Amino acid sequence: MKKDIIVIGGGGREHAIIKALKKSPEINKIYALPGNAGMLGDSECVNIGAKDINGVLEFAKSHNIGFAVIAPDDPLVLGMADMLTEAGIPVFGPSKKAAAIEGSKVFSKLLMRKYGIPTANFRAFSAVDSALEYVKVCEIPTVVKADGLALGKGVIIAETREDAEKAVKSIMEDKIFGESGANIVIEEFLSGPEVSVLSFTDGNTVVPMVSSMDHKRALDGDKGQNTGGMGAVAPNPWYTEDIAERCMREIFIPTIDAMNREGRTFKGCLYFGLMLTANGPKVIEYNCRFGDPETQAVLPLLETDLFTVMQAVSEGRLKDIEIKFSDKHACCVVMASHGYPVQYEKGFEISLDKDITGQVYFAGASLKDGKLVTSGGRVLGVTNVAETLEKAVEMSYNDVDKIHFANAFYRRDIGKKALAAQEQ
Ligand code: AMP
Ligand code: GLY
Repeated sequence: MKKDIIVIGGGGREHAIIKALKKSPEINKIYALPGNAGMLGDSECVNIGAKDINGVLEFAKSHNIGFAVIAPDDPLVLGMADMLTEAGIPVFGPSKKAAAIEGSKVFSKLLMRKYGIPTANFRAFSAVDSALEYVKVCEIPTVVKADGLALGKGVIIAETREDAEKAVKSIMEDKIFGESGANIVIEEFLSGPEVSVLSFTDGNTVVPMVSSMDHKRALDGDKGQNTGGMGAVAPNPWYTEDIAERCMREIFIPTIDAMNREGRTFKGCLYFGLMLTANGPKVIEYNCRFGDPETQAVLPLLETDLFTVMQAVSEGRLKDIEIKFSDKHACCVVMASHGYPVQYEKGFEISLDKDITGQVYFAGASLKDGKLVTSGGRVLGVTNVAETLEKAVEMSYNDVDKIHFANAFYRRDIGKKALAAQEQ
């Protein structure tokens, strides 16, 4: 029998997941909780917040929901997967214990140290005095990270000792990232190209998806503030077959094994944020979920039915299915509101020309007087798939010219670094 399912979350990543799931012949209806108005053609949006565990549970029970996909980190870290599973609703997304791999940087760093998984050297601190003592002597530049979730912003790269001291104080004393900063990690500054590898895992088998490259900074040339991500390309040209093989052996399998040994079996999408250093690939961060906007570049390349994969993960039979990706290239350009990520205005009408070639994934859109208007910092992402990266980039920027809203702001160099890397 066809299933009614829920997808938790409301951004571009969730829209990409929903568009992929919509193709499944096994799904009857998709509800997005809360979703956003840009997804209305693909799902029914229900005004229940992604962190409202009881609200989600009640909705799932009263609507005979046959499967739940939990996309954002907060509900996973809060234990939404556990609650739904206990209620007999199959889920895609890790348990609270497994989500700690993203929920606590101290936990993930200690895990990597214990199991010999390559990562930046570090020290963890729960007291401001000892952290300040340490930054007097540590190598500079250094990296100061809040332990908990901080909307992807809890990382400060300190170029000088004074900056390191300031970072420690602002996180631990001024609590700029709230309670996330009660504990911190101070780690070695690494350099090298960054690669995102999202993977499907049921705790026994791990299947990496096609690699990708995020563009985190607000402005061209990787300048400006860190954002939730201004665009992504897939695959990532730095991630060669040799490196992939090495990552599988040194990072992916050891991580899955380590989580099992700790009694924290991970089932869902495990995101490896990697840096390819001169001393080999190292883990910069783990996320317990799909990346945003990487998902908007990766899922359009997935040829296997996403719902089939998610069910196999949930039921622990990932080894029995084959997962195929196209060997084409994808480029997602994010269009944001001017002023993002700091301050921006909302409520501008969004219009799309008819001849757009790519997929538009909405992140911040709502309805006003029956019209679609901007309602967030990141408004949407547009993804094109083509035989070459160059073509995919060109097509996505052609589409950007056909999407209109006041105060639109986007990077003009998504894919540029990847194109240069291809030529090396
Ligand atoms: P995260 O939130 O952990 O992904 O960190 C945000 C960004 O900070 C990463 O994408 C890197 O560009 C940078 N970063 C994090 N840790 C390090 C490190 N140890 N060395 C250099 N850059 C880092
Ligand atoms: N694109 C980075 C993240 O999703 O955390």
